Amino acid sequence: MSYSNINFPENSLFLVTGGAGFIGSNLCEAILNLGCKVRCLDDLSTGKQSNVDMFADNERYEFIKGDIKDFDICMKACEGVDYVLHQAAWGSVPRSIEMPLFYCKNNIDGTLNMLEAARQNKVKKFVYASSSSVYGDEPALPKKEGVEGNLLSPYALTKLCNEEWAKQYSMHYNLPTVGLRYFNVFGRRQDPDGAYAAVIPKFIKLLLNGIAPTINGDGKQSRDFTYIENVIEANFKACLADDRANGKAFNIAYGGREYLIDIYYEITKALDVQIEPNFGPDRAGDIKHSNADISKAREFLGYDPSYDFATGLKNAIDWYKNNL
Ligand SMILES: NC(=O)c1ccc[n+]([C@@H]2O[C@H](COP(=O)([O-])OP(=O)(O)OC[C@H]3O[C@@H](n4cnc5c(N)ncnc54)[C@H](O)[C@@H]3O)[C@@H](O)[C@H]2O)c1
Repeated sequence: MSYSNINFPENSLFLVTGGAGFIGSNLCEAILNLGCKVRCLDDLSTGKQSNVDMFADNERYEFIKGDIKDFDICMKACEGVDYVLHQAAWGSVPRSIEMPLFYCKNNIDGTLNMLEAARQNKVKKFVYASSSSVYGDEPALPKKEGVEGNLLSPYALTKLCNEEWAKQYSMHYNLPTVGLRYFNVFGRRQDPDGAYAAVIPKFIKLLLNGIAPTINGDGKQSRDFTYIENVIEANFKACLADDRANGKAFNIAYGGREYLIDIYYEITKALDVQIEPNFGPDRAGDIKHSNADISKAREFLGYDPSYDFATGLKNAIDWYKNNL
């Protein structure tokens, strides 16, 4: 993607927490492509060193191996930073149901540490990853900010708490914050392995290896799958947004709606394989349908996603074919 319409002052320093993860490593790469400096803070708990190895020789790149649960590390990481893009968290709805205490400490306390460290270091803007899970069981589609239902998992609770804390920091502590409610992001470097892997990379990898994936439920669930480049654009635009966006959270999606079973067959077609899926039980904490109204992000951030689902899926499949 060209970021020609996005300009940061020369020598701007970004801190990307969770920078060795899927979204974070893509943000680091995009920041370096803009000509700016980036510091990556990651404890490598779910992220991988190999996601960031290619930046190691770049003099505008710095890596800190550290945990956001440690306030001193957060302070050190925020030194001299202009913009924080806070991605560090543990994802996965089912895993959060198994590990509520850890999720509270990691995702909520960790984020509070980062907010406080950013405030003390006078960071210009604190942009952070929230999630479509904050809509809980609200059935109305498309999902619209301000119309949320009952939360369905500890993970969703951590993300909503982050939003409330960020609002307080904007309101009382002079730290401009912007929350981005990502909807099912996919693309290069998303981890295809493990019990908690996201569906698109998982399906692609299994099918490339001739193995039939299991679809949870009947496959008729729908999601607003969002290509990584749109998420990068949203982060940059959130940094540059005017004060009206402060203390708010915005849906970040493409604004489309894809059914899981259709995606499955699009992948088999693109890979030219004929493998039928297995079907398993529904997953606890999952909703049947989710898609986003992105008009608020358009209005407040100037967010205008340029990658539709089909283009993103093609790019992702090409990347996995060459990199697995
Ligand atoms: N991928 C999606 O579809 C999606 C959707 C909604 C929200 N999000 C949010 O976006 C963010 C990034 O997600 P991702 O998909 O890239 O996940 P990821 O697991 O690939 O990346 C998260 C990164 O954070 C790091 N991390 C976790 N806890 C940490 C800690 N205590 N200290 C330091 N680093 C820590 C991990 O090692 C990892 O590198 C997360 O906050 C996630 O909740 C993602």
